[in-house]
Amino acid sequence: MAVAAPETIEVLFDAATVSRRVEELANEIGAALPEPFTVVGLLKGAFVLVADLVRALDRAGRAPRVEFLQVSSYGLGKDSSGSVKVIGGMPDSVAGQAVLLVDDIQDTGRTITFTRQLLAEHGAGRIWTCALLDKPSRRVVGGDCDFTGFVIPDVFVVGYGIDYAERFRHLPFIARLV
Ligand code: IMP
Ligand code: MG
Repeated sequence: MAVAAPETIEVLFDAATVSRRVEELANEIGAALPEPFTVVGLLKGAFVLVADLVRALDRAGRAPRVEFLQVSSYGLGKDSSGSVKVIGGMPDSVAGQAVLLVDDIQDTGRTITFTRQLLAEHGAGRIWTCALLDKPSRRVVGGDCDFTGFVIPDVFVVGYGIDYAERFRHLPFIARLV
């Protein structure tokens, strides 16, 4: 696949705005989830969010365990392939645990629906879901997450862990490609 041409980006949520919202989410999550619980982050997109969220949960007085699951649905393009693949293993320590499943974006809903089912099949107890961004207009399966950072229209976003063809994950803010 050809390397994408440079794109112009436009800031949607600056770093301070994201940080404030993550703090609020951690307070909501901290008040709602039982003790103990395990955060299961979806790689790669949720890696920055999980790093910030678990430290905000610590400030909220919680001590979550942290696991990651690597899934892929997009490859290098902008459109979902329509199928979700797990790369690597399943964390087995989720058995019997309350789980907070964390992704960067809920788009068609396939990733969260599929991984939620997979965690349940691997013996997870009650599962809550969290996405920093939600594009409800794109939903094909499933409903809204239990915890959502920002609802956005159908735009392609990057930054704060989120990529386009593996670029832009390092940006400390969330931007849209224009
Ligand atoms: P879903 O399975 O369609 O809900 O898609 C979720 C996944 O698609 C997310 O984990 C992202 O990796 C990816 N995705 C959805 N929208 C965007 C976007 O605007 N930018 C980058 N990745 C996206
Ligand atoms: Mg992703």
